[in-house]
Formats: sequence, C-alpha cells, structure tokens
Amino acid sequence: AKGIEDLKIREYGRRPYLFRYRGFIFPQFVVDDVKSIHQFEIREDDLWIVSYPKAGTTWLQELVYLIDTNLDFEGAEKNTMDDRFPFFEFPYPGKKAINDLPSPRRIKTHLPFPLLPNQMKEKKPKIIYIARNPKDTLVSLYHFAVKFFAPVQRFQGTYDQFCELFAEDKAIYGPWWKHVLEAWKCRDDDNVLVLFYEDLQKDLPGVVRQVASFLGKSLTDAEVDAVAKHCTFESMKNNKSVNYDWLKEQGMASDKADFMRKGKVGDWKNHLSSEISAKLEEMVSSKLTPAGVVFQDTL
Ligand code: A3P
Repeated sequence: AKGIEDLKIREYGRRPYLFRYRGFIFPQFVVDDVKSIHQFEIREDDLWIVSYPKAGTTWLQELVYLIDTNLDFEGAEKNTMDDRFPFFEFPYPGKKAINDLPSPRRIKTHLPFPLLPNQMKEKKPKIIYIARNPKDTLVSLYHFAVKFFAPVQRFQGTYDQFCELFAEDKAIYGPWWKHVLEAWKCRDDDNVLVLFYEDLQKDLPGVVRQVASFLGKSLTDAEVDAVAKHCTFESMKNNKSVNYDWLKEQGMASDKADFMRKGKVGDWKNHLSSEISAKLEEMVSSKLTPAGVVFQDTL
C-alpha cells in the first residue's frame, strides 16, 4: 500500500522489521495487509478491546469475556484466549476466520484508533480501550518482545537501545502517547469506555461493575466477586487458557520467561534508568497532561 515507510532500525538487523504508516509504527504483518484492515466489515454487536501492547489487554479480555458471556467460566477454561477473543491483525486466526465468526464477536486489536477499520465510525460497536503508564508499559514490552519471544524475536540491540527506541517514538505500535491520546479523545463517545491498568489494580471489583454497566449487564455482588477472584494475577498466571504458555509448547516463547511476568504497578523502579524515566515523564507532561490524561500515582 502507499505511504508505508521502512524505519530501517539497525537494532533489528538488515531485513526491514518496523514500518511507519499514517504516523504509527507497525510490524510487517500489519503493513502487508492494510487494505483488508481498512475494509474489514464491522458489526454493530461486535465488542472490541483496543490497547497499546502490554497495557493489561489480556487481563481486561478475561474480565470482559466473563461478563459478556454471563459468566461462562467453562467456556473460558476450555478455549485459549486467542481462540475465543482473537487478535484482529495477527496472522492467527486471521481476518477471514474472524469475519466468519458468529455474532456477537469479541475482538482484540493493538491498532490505534485512527487505524481501526473504516466502518467503525458508522457501525459504532462497543470499544473498550485500556491504557497503562508508559514506564511499566516499556518494562513489560521489553520483557515480552525480547525475553518471552526469545526463540523468534529479531531485536539484536541492548536493553538501553530498546528503551531509547520507545522514548523516541520508534517502538512497535507507537508513538505510545499518540496511541493513548487518540483513544482518550473519544472517551466521551457513547460506544467507548477508556480504562487504566492502574485502576484495575486499585479496585478490580469496581472495574468489573463499571464494565458490566457499560455492557448492559447486571451482576450480583457474588458474581462480581467471582469474576474479580478469577482475574487476580495469581489466578491468571496459573490459568492455561490465558497465560500464553501454549506458545512455549509451540517453540515460539522461551521457557525462561512468562507472559504473566509480575503484574505490578511501579516495577519500572527496578528496571529503568533515570534518563529514560525523565524522558517518559516529559512525554506524559508535554503530550498527555494537557489533554487531561492522568496516570495516578505511577510516575
Ligand atoms: P508485566 O509484564 O508488567 O507483568 P498485555 O496483556 O496487554 O500484553 O499486558 C501484559 C501485562 O499485564 C503483563 O505485565 C502481565 O503480567 C499483566 N497482567 C496480566 N494479567 C494480569 C492480572 N490478572 N493482574 C495484574 N497484571 C496482569
């Protein structure tokens, strides 16, 4: 497609790996198929979860899945997240399979709002966006992209270089701040709910209630507690249908790392240099604070 620029990031080796398209950075599997992204048929009764990677997408997916299916714990256990809440732009299971799913569909994507399929604006399906503070997002992203995906990943640079790329708006699906800002601008739309990872940490039952109300479901206190209990970090870490351990069996992910890594707010303090930390604070205060985005107690 037109307008795709190879970023030529040398830390990824000689073959192109990340591309700029309409102001955002995407991997090859996205830019190879932009036309079918734009033209994908949306249904009014779809439910989309949108996020920058590592914002707590999987956590929110599990919570949303249970609420939206009237607490189908059995279905949640039987099928992996990738099968019951597919990743839109990823090659597996693919857009054709997602197109053919019966309604109501639940779909996850990391595409930023401006790159969502064209029909999103007229069909207005429910969209839940989740954001996480940039410092924990970056630490989690490094661990995921480089350590967890060690057997298949392409990045050959250092940890510091990885952090620099993120701070320079050159990380996958970035600029991170723009991803968040574009969703934030739509937060008052009736079909959009914007959540924060930090709020799930602070009050999970409260978020379960908030999501239930957004989805038009009413839950008893006992049901709220059951969903929240199912969605704690420990429970999800040990849950084979959400912890992505199946990627280890497929040789895609490393035995020495876990998708469910730490699940904390503020772990960046153990990992980020003061330089990177300062750059991310500046990024938030110059790009997001003026728009009213607040990452509570986390920076
Ligand atoms: P960490 O690497 O900081 O541990 P995503 O699903 O968007 O890829 O996000 C993954 C991050 O969310 C990881 O962060 C993961 O541990 C965290 N996470 C997943 N489930 C969680 C839960 N139930 N409670 C807290 N954090 C969770």
